Amino acid sequence: MEKSVIQNLLSIESRRILEEIQLFEEVDSTNAEAIRQIQAGNTANRLVVARSQSAGRGRRGRSWLSPLDAGVYMSVMKQFTLQPNALQGLSLLTALSLKEALNGLGISGLKLKWPNDILFQNKKLAGILLELQQRDRHCYLVFGIGLNIALPAELTQEIDRPVTDITSIADDIPENNRIVATVINELCSNLVEYEKSGFSSFQESWNESDSYLNSNIEIHNGEKRIIGKSLGVDSNGALLLQTVTGLQSINGGEVFPSLRELSE
Ligand code: BTN
Repeated sequence: MEKSVIQNLLSIESRRILEEIQLFEEVDSTNAEAIRQIQAGNTANRLVVARSQSAGRGRRGRSWLSPLDAGVYMSVMKQFTLQPNALQGLSLLTALSLKEALNGLGISGLKLKWPNDILFQNKKLAGILLELQQRDRHCYLVFGIGLNIALPAELTQEIDRPVTDITSIADDIPENNRIVATVINELCSNLVEYEKSGFSSFQESWNESDSYLNSNIEIHNGEKRIIGKSLGVDSNGALLLQTVTGLQSINGGEVFPSLRELSE
């Protein structure tokens, strides 16, 4: 990967939003690096991208295995004025932006899994980890994106769920520089729209891409299990679940397909 190539592929809007690009051969985690910089007072909006991570972070305390060039590992750090319920919508928006960017690069057949996984034929292609930092009364959001490009077979076996990568699903594999820039351009353009009108203008596109819409699912949240039929997301990005006791709006947890009938 090359910083100047990424820079040249960025849209005017992305250049206006991102003041700096930092490219590392290796870092512990691009999210952790962005957060350290915020804490040190280095708060200009930036992109942190790495060819490998020694301690990549996943959601729910998991790790994100990140060998050299097996994936794209990137974090966008941006200052935000946030409404209290904005985080959820932004995290869905990031997944949607990644899906749309990949679509634009000719990679189709992608689906979303609430809140923010990207799937291809039910296998995980990418994940998103949003982290919020506050400093001197300002809010900073770190949008961490991990996209599988060419996972070594031994790594695939180590991961406890079905995974896939760009190499397995694309006919023409775009260069990583182009992938990074296209994702940034899509995300920045969607963030501008989001700051104007929130998640509601993305609700429909998100639901059209939802791999579990109208399916029976189980939400696992800690010890709690809720079973119901997924009705897609509402205008804030909460998942609407039709359960035997009525409609519930879900704000956290992980989705699994349900094999049980709702009446059980
Ligand atoms: C998930 O569990 O699905 C989220 C994975 C997010 C991984 C990315 S890789 C770049 C950024 N830096 C990290 O440490 N994590 C995110």
